[in-house]
Amino acid sequence: MSPVDKRLQGKVALVTGAGSVGPGWGNGRAIAVRFAQEGARIFAVDRDAERMEETVRLVQEAGGEITTASCDVTQSESVAAMVASCMERFGRIDVLVNNVGGSAAGGPVEMSEEVWDAQIDHNLKSVFLTCKHVLPIMTAQAAGAIVNISSTSGTRWTGSAQVAYASTKAGVIQFSRVVAVQYAKTGIRVNTVVPGQLYTPMVDVRLAKQRTGGDVSALLAQRQSRIPLPFMGDGRDTANAALFLASDEARFITGTELVVDGGMSVRCD
Ligand SMILES: NC(=O)c1ccc[n+]([C@@H]2O[C@H](COP(=O)([O-])OP(=O)(O)OC[C@H]3O[C@@H](n4cnc5c(N)ncnc54)[C@H](O)[C@@H]3O)[C@@H](O)[C@H]2O)c1
Repeated sequence: MSPVDKRLQGKVALVTGAGSVGPGWGNGRAIAVRFAQEGARIFAVDRDAERMEETVRLVQEAGGEITTASCDVTQSESVAAMVASCMERFGRIDVLVNNVGGSAAGGPVEMSEEVWDAQIDHNLKSVFLTCKHVLPIMTAQAAGAIVNISSTSGTRWTGSAQVAYASTKAGVIQFSRVVAVQYAKTGIRVNTVVPGQLYTPMVDVRLAKQRTGGDVSALLAQRQSRIPLPFMGDGRDTANAALFLASDEARFITGTELVVDGGMSVRCD
């Protein structure tokens, strides 16, 4: 690779959850924009088309190419149609980023069965379904990179009981490892980014209401107190890690996790 090449030049990247619950750097939005800056053509997927408007604007400002598709990634037919429309538009899929996900509060007693089932669909079945429909395409290409977005809540207690989120995010890690080995000989790599406690729009829009009665500063202080580095990361930090794993620089890396948490996971005090 020559130093002047963009790191994803010529590649088509399908990114799920490419919108964000509010303005600013959500993980999916940041991934779409960062990948576009590196030359990828972006197929941006979200259930809510309006949430992708800022993503589209930012990609276009960066001189990138982006096509959007509305899709509920928990529904098989919706995923099949979305993948078909990406193929119709671009004729290939080089990178798949499974970014859709989110938490619900509670342990096994407080959480209803409906919420448990919905969390499994949202965080884990979504990854299964996109892989089900994209892996045959990557196999035919004899190349591809899949990057799944987990969470440190899938490997550690991170301050509150969110048992379904933790279980599904742990599931994403092991799902990725198994598929990585199964598909290694076909030239497909599968890796996981494990973000920690970031300052993303989700904190303002949803989490502060759940955790600190809407007091965003109190929630940020609580989250920062767990992080050794003296600042909080955002979606752009997840995006840089995903970029590395998606790029050819990671050609010998599969079945592993890249933790993006400012050192939080190695603390035990
Ligand atoms: N924000 C954090 O601090 C943090 C930390 C660790 C891990 N993560 C993980 O990062 C990922 C993104 O989180 P975020 O907070 O940046 O995102 P977000 O909640 O701001 O945006 C997610 C997007 O996904 C879309 N979406 C939701 N359900 C969908 C569905 N069924 N089909 C299609 N699109 C759907 C939403 O419309 C939204 O635009 C998630 O997997 C999350 O678990 C986030």
